[in-house]
Amino acid sequence: MKKVGLIGWRGLVGSVLLKRMQQEDDFKKAKYYYFSTSNPNTEVVIHGNNYLLKDANSIWHLAEMDIILTCQGSSYTNSIYDELRNNGWQGYWIDASSAKRMHDDSIIALDPVNKEALICALDNGIKNFIGGNCSITLSLLGLNSLFKENLVEWCSMMTYQAASGAGAAYVRELLSQVKYLSDNLDFNNNANTLNVIENAHKVLSSEDFPKQQFCVPLLGNIIPWIDTDLMNGSSKEEWKGEVELNKILGLSTSKDYIKVDGLCIRVSSLRSHSAAITFKLKKNLSLEELEAIIKKSNPWINFIANNKESSIHHLSPIATSESLKIAVGRLKKLNIGENLYSVLTVGDQLLWGAAEPLRRMLNILLQRS
Ligand code: HSE
Repeated sequence: MKKVGLIGWRGLVGSVLLKRMQQEDDFKKAKYYYFSTSNPNTEVVIHGNNYLLKDANSIWHLAEMDIILTCQGSSYTNSIYDELRNNGWQGYWIDASSAKRMHDDSIIALDPVNKEALICALDNGIKNFIGGNCSITLSLLGLNSLFKENLVEWCSMMTYQAASGAGAAYVRELLSQVKYLSDNLDFNNNANTLNVIENAHKVLSSEDFPKQQFCVPLLGNIIPWIDTDLMNGSSKEEWKGEVELNKILGLSTSKDYIKVDGLCIRVSSLRSHSAAITFKLKKNLSLEELEAIIKKSNPWINFIANNKESSIHHLSPIATSESLKIAVGRLKKLNIGENLYSVLTVGDQLLWGAAEPLRRMLNILLQRS
């Protein structure tokens, strides 16, 4: 049996991954070892079994593994990966972080979209399989067949990203903000609404309002910047949309390269990222034709009819969270130009946006051995 080392399994993505692996009986398919960066050599009980944690900073412990799957983050990858390879380790590296995503010796793993490329990469000796950015992964899954059929000229993506995309501490801060507002707002049903709004605004703007992580309130607000400032008007999250989409589709150096740009916005959803996408097609298609193509994308599409009732109930973070379904809706032809359409994709960024492609990649590797 292959030896698989799991790192960062206690974080948000890691916890979702372990849950999915248990649901799919993956633990029977290999011998798993749990690593820790902070508490190696301590005993833990996982799924009813005792394990002694291995040291995630020990090249020797890591080098014993055939496959390493890490959800520990980019800093960890940057601190250990080169040293591990330089010591001659030949195993497979599966990584949720972006550290190695755009490197030539890595491929972005999203098998419902690029399974052939993944198999070809394996045949060619590629050993690094990296999860894509959550927003682009979800939108690409939702619209896969439009891209595959080479129909898209460009797209503009406006994302509405959940607090949990930023990490556990941020979700906890958002919930602290809810509690702080509720504890400090003088509100009763007879109060004048304008006064209530003004009082709420005072509480949200107060010095003591909990905002250590986000720096500003997320509750009652939006945060119009995600990830670092590239100093060219774009955030790194926005840049990832274009480069990763093209890398996953194998178009990075192709004449069919798809231009993608937009704004990435943090909103106060707890889980599930949404993307409002405007796209230009290379030809005019009816909405019926488009819907049929989108539905072919993959088995996880939940196509939502473009009406108010269906949209408010089924095309939302609350409707998609904890589900592998990707809701695709608000498909309409825009009346501002030729071949322009809008669509909204919503999906659980901890599942398809992070853990699920890694779990499936691990299964591809285990099935080959
Ligand atoms: N960068 C994403 C976010 C998380 O901040 O929501 C997953 O790629």
